[in-house]
Amino acid sequence: MSRKVAFIGLGVMGYPMAGHLQNAGHQVTVYNRNAAKAQRWQQQYGGSTAATPAAAAADAEFVFTCVGNDDDLRAVTLGNEGILQTLPADAVLVDHTTASAEVARELAAACAQRGAHFVDAPVSGGQQGAENGQLTIMCGGEPDAFDRAREVMDCYARAITLMGPAGSGQLTKMVNQICVAGVLQGLAEGMSFAEHAGLDLHKVIAAISQGAAGSWQMSNRHATMIAGEYEHGFAVDWMRKDLDICLREAQRNGTDLSITRQINQFYREVQAMGGGRWDTSSLYKRLQDSKTLH
Ligand SMILES: NC(=O)c1ccc[n+]([C@@H]2O[C@H](COP(=O)([O-])OP(=O)(O)OC[C@H]3O[C@@H](n4cnc5c(N)ncnc54)[C@H](OP(=O)(O)O)[C@@H]3O)[C@@H](O)[C@H]2O)c1
Repeated sequence: MSRKVAFIGLGVMGYPMAGHLQNAGHQVTVYNRNAAKAQRWQQQYGGSTAATPAAAAADAEFVFTCVGNDDDLRAVTLGNEGILQTLPADAVLVDHTTASAEVARELAAACAQRGAHFVDAPVSGGQQGAENGQLTIMCGGEPDAFDRAREVMDCYARAITLMGPAGSGQLTKMVNQICVAGVLQGLAEGMSFAEHAGLDLHKVIAAISQGAAGSWQMSNRHATMIAGEYEHGFAVDWMRKDLDICLREAQRNGTDLSITRQINQFYREVQAMGGGRWDTSSLYKRLQDSKTLH
């Protein structure tokens, strides 16, 4: 069924996601802060552009956001020209930003005040997942609003799961990032050890990747790590933002995240090496470079 949809934030992730919505037959209006990107999107996919988030949301049944962090999200929702100025009653606001659980709960309350609904829906799968329409989406919100949103999100998702009330999607994404960080540091240390031991790294990975040590990161990142290539993938700057969110939440709920805290510090060092835009597997480069310093 064709829906009236607004999409706010045409970044690396949002641009192809909004494209999937238009290709699926929905009537999409996009807003991007840098208007040239919105015009490029319209030339590529059709649909309409709006001058402000409020204008884009004015007659939408579903409004999607995918911006950087909590502050950006507050700007496009609660700001003077934000979505909450015009969001129609009964519309569903779906947020794909990786943000805090706190801002999700805040937006759920603001939407409820207008008789509208909110679903926090952070994603994993990266740029490739967004482009191929194969994202994994972790959601928080009321079941009815979720069911309605799921039908629309289906065009760019491989798996969509309702985890619980507002904020639960973001909490689940935090679990994801905590696990990814630990796996990447373990992989970097294992490869560094293999290098010091004089082993053939390709051979080591081939020997162990199908066993208990195997992981998505090992299968998909070892070759670029060995080649020293990091100009791709999920940026260290984004991971730092995500781990800061995890650490703040852990302080609130009393979890001991000592390894995650340490890895966040390692990522700070990668940023200081000029690697803010490098893929998160650059933890290996940090170890290699510190080796040459000693
Ligand atoms: N990239 C990934 O692999 C990946 C994977 C999973 C999750 N995520 C998460 O998805 C979100 C988006 O990531 P991305 O890679 O698409 O980021 P991006 O390429 O940097 O795009 C960010 C988008 O947000 C807009 N924006 C930022 N601040 C804004 C503000 N204050 N007001 C209005 N618009 C604003 C930007 O507009 P302009 O174009 O005007 O700057 C741009 O459209 C982040 O929360 C990220 O952590 C990313």
